[in-house]
Amino acid sequence: MKNIPNHVAIIMDGNGRWATKRGLNRSEGHKEGSKTLEKLAIHVLNSGVKYLSVYAFSTDNFKRTKEEVEYLMNLFILMFKSKFKKLDKENIKVIFSGRKEPLRKDVLDAMNEIVDKTRNNTKGILNICLNYGGQEEIVDASKKLIDEVSSGNLKIEDINKDMFYKYLYQDLPPIDLLIRTSGEYRVSNYMLYQMSYSEFYFTDVLFPDFDEKEFDKAIEEFNSRDRRFGKNK
Ligand code: IPE
Ligand code: IPE
Ligand code: MG
Repeated sequence: MKNIPNHVAIIMDGNGRWATKRGLNRSEGHKEGSKTLEKLAIHVLNSGVKYLSVYAFSTDNFKRTKEEVEYLMNLFILMFKSKFKKLDKENIKVIFSGRKEPLRKDVLDAMNEIVDKTRNNTKGILNICLNYGGQEEIVDASKKLIDEVSSGNLKIEDINKDMFYKYLYQDLPPIDLLIRTSGEYRVSNYMLYQMSYSEFYFTDVLFPDFDEKEFDKAIEEFNSRDRRFGKNK
């Protein structure tokens, strides 16, 4: 029997290199990556995974060239308003994690549109991390907690690591399997709180080429791992 992880997270890296290798503009890599994401999300959530979190844009990605940031923002609008039709048909619910500031209003509107459209879907949850930072998330959660304590709704002694999840951008279970494509071995400020006992899977495959078969390899590898959570064997 295969052990299917409940929550999978993917750091979708390597779009730029995928394009450069082919003599194309980096933006072509992002476009191809967006097609890969749609197909992959359907496959992953059909395979029994309940939650799929994907890193689409980090808070630090705003440090890229104006052209690349603009291209990505316009691509997000296209994805959420029209391209991602199949996700809704497949009964997938889309949610977002990240800061609103300084996202453009048309981007926020497109995000709200797909959230509203897929609100009642029940197959699985696609959590798109956009303008997301892991340290930022912990800081923002701490501020919400402090607010609750100062307004008398919460006692300091009731704060613990389990209830802390409720103050993160989305209240999701911990990550079982974290995948990073493109041969980089780092977490780049991704879901720091949620990855405390994640299994890591690194592959040299660039994200646009990370297809259903590549994902199944990651599941196979996950099944060979011995997760101990600090206990004896
Ligand atoms: C990941 O691909 C997508 C985003 C960060 C938006 P990259 O754009 O980081 O691709 P590389 O790492 O430059 O190849
Ligand atoms: C992480 O990739 C962010 C996303 C995949 C959206 P980066 O390409 O931005 O990370 P670094 O700069 O290589 O650490
Ligand atoms: Mg990169």
